[in-house]
Amino acid sequence: AIPVLLDCDPGHDDAMALLLAVADPAVELLGVTTVAGNQTVEKCTLNARRVLSLAGVSHIPVARGADRPLVRPLRIADDVHGETGLDGPLFEGDPQVPEASTCAHELVVDVLTKHDAPVTIVATGALTNVATLLAARPDLSGRIDQLVWMGGSTERGNVTPYAEANCFVDPEAADQVLRSGVPFTMCGLNVTHQALVTDDVLTAFAGIGTPLASICVEWMTFFASTYKQLWGMTAPPLHDPVAVARVIDPTIVRCVDANVMIETEGTWTAGATVVDLHRYTGRPSNAQVAVELDRTAFWTRLVDAVTRIG
Ligand code: BDR
Ligand code: CA
Repeated sequence: AIPVLLDCDPGHDDAMALLLAVADPAVELLGVTTVAGNQTVEKCTLNARRVLSLAGVSHIPVARGADRPLVRPLRIADDVHGETGLDGPLFEGDPQVPEASTCAHELVVDVLTKHDAPVTIVATGALTNVATLLAARPDLSGRIDQLVWMGGSTERGNVTPYAEANCFVDPEAADQVLRSGVPFTMCGLNVTHQALVTDDVLTAFAGIGTPLASICVEWMTFFASTYKQLWGMTAPPLHDPVAVARVIDPTIVRCVDANVMIETEGTWTAGATVVDLHRYTGRPSNAQVAVELDRTAFWTRLVDAVTRIG
């Protein structure tokens, strides 16, 4: 199995990405780190612990990362994910899975140093933790097999006309990570909007018939309600699991090589990903950019993962 660290800000779609990473046989999930984004890092960390507890997993450390972007104030997405960051089903009490005694940075350094093979990092939030790691420990970049990020877009944005949320929260971090030379894959809105939670998807999850599957349906139904309210969409895009799916089986998420630059200064466009799909600039490719999703394979993998957890 492919050794993976998942850096996330759960978040409804992050929660589903966590379940996929926990239960798909192609992945060995070595640790989960959290970053401020959809909600405060406190709430995102609690949510990550909650998701792993629901999955009945106790051997995967959950470590808290950055509580704010590198230079900008934090902008949360409570309009999309609610007050808890994972609104929908009500949870009470403390989840069984504890928070690790080390912070995210220490956990990642430890895993990258000790694991016998290079590790894939999947990031489904702002890239603050990854940028901080690469700045502090550039010697470890060779221990990262690849970084697969849900963020950006080859088209337009979802928080400003040109910026996607994970990039908008911390554009400086995304810029630094891209410039680091770590093998980089971008799964942006252009591909995650091919992963729409349509009624037949909800029916497939409901058909699993477990308490966890019912919770997944509640999460995706809440997510659908905010997408309907904010964007008038009848089926919300389940962004984050797409990045995990790319690691599980690259044929599920077709990519092309391209040059990607992050706009950090634009008056109207901060956080935009400038993706040179047509090679106008002559700048060399620095990323694999996801362009097409095999929807059937994607949803099958996700339904199978939730089924496998039981
Ligand atoms: C991204 O922003 C967050 O709200 C989601 O969890 C996803 O990672 C989509 O733009
Ligand atoms: Ca996310």
